[in-house]
Amino acid sequence: MTDIRKIIIDTDPGQDDAAALMLAFASPAELEVLGVTVVAGNVPLSYTSRNARIVCELSGRSDMPVYEGAVKPLERPQVTAEHVHGKTGLDGAEVPEPVMRVQAQNAVDFIVETLRREPAGTVTLCTLGPLTNIAMALMQAPDIAPRVRELVMMGGGFFEGGNITPAAEFNIYVDPQAADIVMKSGIPIVMMPLDVTHQLLTTKARVQRIAALGTRPAEVMVQWLQFFERFDEEKYGSDGGPLHDPTVIAYLLKPELFSGRDCNVEIETRSELTVGMTVVDWWRVTDRPANARFMRHVDADGFFDLLIERFGRLG
Ligand code: BDR
Ligand code: CA
Repeated sequence: MTDIRKIIIDTDPGQDDAAALMLAFASPAELEVLGVTVVAGNVPLSYTSRNARIVCELSGRSDMPVYEGAVKPLERPQVTAEHVHGKTGLDGAEVPEPVMRVQAQNAVDFIVETLRREPAGTVTLCTLGPLTNIAMALMQAPDIAPRVRELVMMGGGFFEGGNITPAAEFNIYVDPQAADIVMKSGIPIVMMPLDVTHQLLTTKARVQRIAALGTRPAEVMVQWLQFFERFDEEKYGSDGGPLHDPTVIAYLLKPELFSGRDCNVEIETRSELTVGMTVVDWWRVTDRPANARFMRHVDADGFFDLLIERFGRLG
């Protein structure tokens, strides 16, 4: 039997964040979710907090501790993405307001305390939004960095360019100072950039397979995905939109679905034209040391087979 990985999911739901949370909750034999920490990102914190709890309840995990973190980026003015995710961040389905409450403890304190309490090298950080909470934890407690087993993030883009500016992917763009702190932390990092997620389209055939599961979580997920993909379908002219955030959880469950390269990734923090760009030394043209495994390819059918099989375990 493989060991159960302890993870903290830091997130800004978001329909694709919701899919990632559901994938994790559906995989208790492999993943123990110690807590969900929320950050301002796709929508303001009050909504990301609400949305995380909606997803927990929908997945039958109202016991899951949810912690609220940063309300805004470290330095830059807040940027949100209601144009993609809708006003609430989870537009598209009628769901009841959550009953479960947030924890009293702040997300940053929870991350620090958990990493100090658990044996070194056993906790994996999964980040699905801007990296503000993680950077604040690292600034507050630099001793936690060597204790992190791995940080798997959805963020960045290189060959695909950006999705919020021509150069930048949303999660990095929103808080480039935070991303810079994380990339320089020495934590083993795996990046799931747009180069990977743009291969994962929620085509009609795939969404139909989720609908065919016939459960309430699947029904809600289909409605969320159909709302979420409309913006990208128009933008890219594709059948379905890219499903970004579940890549992080899928990597923990089936790393063989993904391939990439260890390379140096630096964050542009100053240029107004390219701020938030992930500058990836894919061809190793500098002697800057590798600080991340930057993924580039994914087995898309294998990914959706995993996602749909796990969704079928919920509800
Ligand atoms: C990322 O930005 C958000 O809109 C999504 O939830 C995802 O985390 C994609 O660029
Ligand atoms: Ca997200």
